[in-house]
Parts: sequence; structure tokens; C-alpha cells
Amino acid sequence: MVLQTIREYDFSGKRALVRVDFNVPLKDGKVTDDTRIRAALPTIKYILDAGGSVVVMSHFGRPKGKRNLEFSMAPISKKFAELLGRPVGLASDVIGDDVTKEVKNLKSGEVLLLENVRFYPGEEKNDPEFAKQLSLFGDVYVNDAFGTAHRAHASTAGVAQYLPSYAGFLIEKEVKFMAPLLENPDKPFVAIIGGSKVSSKIGVLESLVNTCDTIVIGGGMAYTFLAVQGHTIGKSLVEEEFKDTASSFLAKAKEKGVEVILPVDHLCGAAFKEDTPAIAVDSVEIPQDLIGMDIGPKTVKLVVAAVEGAKSVVWNGPMGVFEFDAFAEGTLTVAKALAACKGITVVGGGDSVAAINKFDLADKISHVSTGGGASLEFLEGKVLPGIKALEK
Ligand code: 3PG
Repeated sequence: MVLQTIREYDFSGKRALVRVDFNVPLKDGKVTDDTRIRAALPTIKYILDAGGSVVVMSHFGRPKGKRNLEFSMAPISKKFAELLGRPVGLASDVIGDDVTKEVKNLKSGEVLLLENVRFYPGEEKNDPEFAKQLSLFGDVYVNDAFGTAHRAHASTAGVAQYLPSYAGFLIEKEVKFMAPLLENPDKPFVAIIGGSKVSSKIGVLESLVNTCDTIVIGGGMAYTFLAVQGHTIGKSLVEEEFKDTASSFLAKAKEKGVEVILPVDHLCGAAFKEDTPAIAVDSVEIPQDLIGMDIGPKTVKLVVAAVEGAKSVVWNGPMGVFEFDAFAEGTLTVAKALAACKGITVVGGGDSVAAINKFDLADKISHVSTGGGASLEFLEGKVLPGIKALEK
């Protein structure tokens, strides 16, 4: 996949329409995690330094096609200006005469943030007319919204039909780290896949099994795999309807000579509650009255050993209920193992990124993806509409 990038365009005197993903968590009107805003800054600064002006557009939350100021970009624009170190104007709306005037008044070096693009139903419907109206705000379109690249919306894909289109530095970096995992990863390549559901991760497993040497399966989804292997899993999570899928996946991995590491011991609880004491189960078999809630120390050792010798590692999904302190150890140790690994390490997916941030290890990972659903779909090998539109 070869992308057309912003290095190939001369922004001097031009107005760039830049799609970013500023869908960030807010609490009491304040941004509580500004990672996605920071991640978009290099692209915006590059265009401004090159003598361009920038009209920035993003969605925030799911206002369902209606103007609802609960989902206004206002609190985000403040944080954006603070991080950018320049004033950022907030447009009164997304499209319309007033916005058109505001855009026309922009001078080189200035930044205007449009209101939430999802205030209009045309955004999520990828309505060509809405995309065309957006396109009138720029001489050139830049997409740097990796987190939303899996959505075929007007501001992420449709607008590319009407303007010369380029990938920003963030999309370029996400693709640079993730594409080789599906094509030609440095070997040995270890994939660590966790989280609660087989149903949401089976696509990633089936895609990565083609290129990896070892797959670790942890988190709640591991118990369905253990169940199909005939182990007792007590009261642990199991997706009956995915047992056949899990079983065929194991057969496929075997056929391809891919090593699958499943939990060989566990930390269990008697109830799925934060204050449930952790009970160590030193065997793969979980007693009838217990719930598996984290991988045990023997499993942790297996994962750490696999990661130690790896040249590429991708991690998506926690190993246990890491939000509960008593069941965070497995996820924490895996996070530390990635941080210590000398190979290329990539972390994607909301929960594993949250874990990396909780343990303050992000700067020790080669690449922490800004995409939740987008990174999952990318690793599943799907074509992301927002990226497809930027291919050469
Ligand atoms: C995300 O947070 O995953 C992206 O911003 C996409 O948001 P969406 O799931 O509402 O499309």
C-alpha cells in the first residue's frame, strides 16, 4: 500500500482541509486524554510552517446527525489551541454561509476548527452533496484521522472525490508500523490477542495466523478455546456459538505450524466483582465454582519468554480484568514485556492502549495505535475506506 503523503504537496498559500480524529474522552467539559490531539499536531504544524492555513474537521461522539451542543467541539478546541500553541477559531457550524465566510477570512498560518461533522446526517451517510460542500473549504484534502479510517463517511472518504488528497503523518505512521505485520513482519513474530470476546477478535486471529509464528490468546476469550480443548473452565465466560469457530481456528494454526499459547494456569474469582479476592489456580482446569479473571504466573512466564525473543510483537486486548487491581498482573507483565522487547512492538485497541497508559509505558513501545476499531479492522486485513482514498 503506497500512500500519497503531505510531503508531496506544496502548501504555501493554500488552504488545507484536514480531517483528524478528536473523538477524545471528556469529563466535566475537560479533555481527560489528549493523545489523539497530540498525534495530529505534526501534520497541522507542518502545513502551517509551509505557509498554508488549515480548516480542521472531526467528529466527537455520536450526535446522530443532529446539532446537539452536548457534542460540541468547543472544549476540544481549547485543548487543541493549548497544545498547538496558537489560537484556534471554532466555526459556528459545519457548513453554511457563516462558516463559508469564516473559512474565507482565514489567513496563512491560521487555524479554524469546524463544529462536529456528525451534526449533519450527510456525514455518516457519506452523502456526496455534503462531501462536496465540505470540499469547498479547501484547496487540498488531508486525512490524518486514523481512528476513523474504518468509517466510509463524507469527511473521511467522500471528500477525497473532490480534492487532491494526501495522508497526514499520523496515518502514514500507523500504516508504516501495521502494514508489515500483515505482509512481511520481522520474524519471529508474536501476536498477543486478548479481550473478552472471541466474536470480536476472531477476524484478527484469522488474519494474523498467516504471518505470525506464535499467537498468545488471553483474556475472557481464552476460556472458549480451553473449553473446546476439553478443559474445565468453571463459571468462566464462554461463547457457545463460537466454539466451532474456535476449534477450526486451532486446527488452522496447527496446520500452519503456528504455536498457540493458551493459559496453563489462572487467577480466579468467586464472583465477577472488583473486591473479589484472587484465587490462584495452578492448573489449566478451573474448579466448577470459579471464574477465570487473569492469566496465572506460569502462563505469564510463557508469554514473557515468547516476547523476549521476538523481532515483531503486536498486542491487542488485555489478558485479564485489569481494571480490577487483583486481576491486573497478567496484563501488566505483558505490557512490561513489550516495553522491554528489542523488536518492533505495536499496541492497538482501546483496552490494551488504556493498559499501556495506565502503567505509563507508552514511550517504550514502538507504536501505540490511536485507533480502536480502526486498528482492529486494519489487522483483520480489511480495506479501510479512509486510507483507500489516499492510495497512489
Ligand atoms: C473511535 O473512537 O473509535 C473513532 O473515533 C470512531 O468512532 P465511532 O466508533 O463513533 O465511529
